[in-house]
Amino acid sequence: MSIGNKIKISEEKPLLTIGLFGFGVVGQGLYEVLNNTKSLPARIKTICIKNAEKKRSIDPKYFTTDSDSILNDPEINIVVELIDDADAAFQFVKKALQNGKQVVTANKKMVAEHFTELISLQREYGQALLYEGACCASIPIIRNLEEYYDNDMLSSIKAIVNGSTNYILTKIFEEGLSFSEALLLARQAGFAEADPRLDTEGHDAANKLSILLAHAFGACIPPQEILYTGITQIKKQDAQLAAEKNSEIKLIATACKINGDKLAAFILPQFINKKDELAQVKNEFNGIITESCFADKHFFKGKGAGAYPTAAAVLSDISALRYHYKYEYRKLQQAKVLNYSNDFYLRVYVSAPEVDLIPQEEFESIEEWHNGYNQHWAIGTIHAKKLLENNWWKQDSVSLILCEDPIIENMDYKKLSKKSLALAGVIS
Ligand code: HSE
Repeated sequence: MSIGNKIKISEEKPLLTIGLFGFGVVGQGLYEVLNNTKSLPARIKTICIKNAEKKRSIDPKYFTTDSDSILNDPEINIVVELIDDADAAFQFVKKALQNGKQVVTANKKMVAEHFTELISLQREYGQALLYEGACCASIPIIRNLEEYYDNDMLSSIKAIVNGSTNYILTKIFEEGLSFSEALLLARQAGFAEADPRLDTEGHDAANKLSILLAHAFGACIPPQEILYTGITQIKKQDAQLAAEKNSEIKLIATACKINGDKLAAFILPQFINKKDELAQVKNEFNGIITESCFADKHFFKGKGAGAYPTAAAVLSDISALRYHYKYEYRKLQQAKVLNYSNDFYLRVYVSAPEVDLIPQEEFESIEEWHNGYNQHWAIGTIHAKKLLENNWWKQDSVSLILCEDPIIENMDYKKLSKKSLALAGVIS
């Protein structure tokens, strides 16, 4: 193209030749999305799969079970990793970076578990690793955290980061399905992980929050250090109580600055007022509310699971590689890093069929205590560290749900505990 006979801009773009690992829900989604995106000069050359016997929907010429036929192919300049085995994925990604290839992945478990090593590999071999599809699928949150909030420092993130659990909660509480019926639908729709306990027990959300913490706050916190649980213990009675209080129960990932230079992070079910933006996030959608110093609040909402929404994020990463985009991880390098801390209190609701399953000594204070025929519940304050270190609240029959605005940074707990236990009629 020429403008005014002076400037010539070549329309020729370098071809992106892709080696793809995995042809499951997202891999097939990506194949279709690429075929329908004529503006991107990219093609899939080889697809590495585990099971050669499985019948495939496209020409068998693409497939191999030999990973080296991708990793050692000089023509392949982009490796896209979309398998569900995080350990194998890490080995492929590592070798791809070492062999001078750029990599795109949507594997949150792999990224969260090998975060610092993956940064070192990118620096050592000068290649980019992009993983927008690993957090909240179609919502472009990682690049926004990296770029937009580079200088406008974030103070908090409150988010729904797992599509399957949000879908299951919507189907149970709005359409009356049972947990197993709703889970089956989530699996059939391709939202759930191959092992759906990763979703329902909160592990997937913890992996995503771990990645978000690094990009939002410059904190590398392995998922196992985060206080989290899933949705398996939420009961119908809890949802009824939520409805009475004009609320819904959602699995919420929270990260926020506390006490000046500390960072709190956790994923727990929470009562969300129906007026809150996150209450409007239904089915497989995800939502993120960020709060920053100057911009104040932003609310992102989009599909958080499924073939096309995840493939869209992978496509966007592939496209960004054309322009040599890399994560800079600037917040990790900033001198003033926040200290990760579990030294804060959470206002919680705990319910159980027997009174002894709610250990009063674990509470700093109790505000309300209810004894019903086959359900007892308490609302009170518990130290986060105690929840992290003890598992009584993870028993099947016990449900622990955060109240709205659950964080209490400091409290004069000695005074409160005696007074409030007395108020609640627990002690005299
Ligand atoms: N199983 C994940 C979810 C898929 O339900 O959110 C997207 O990461």
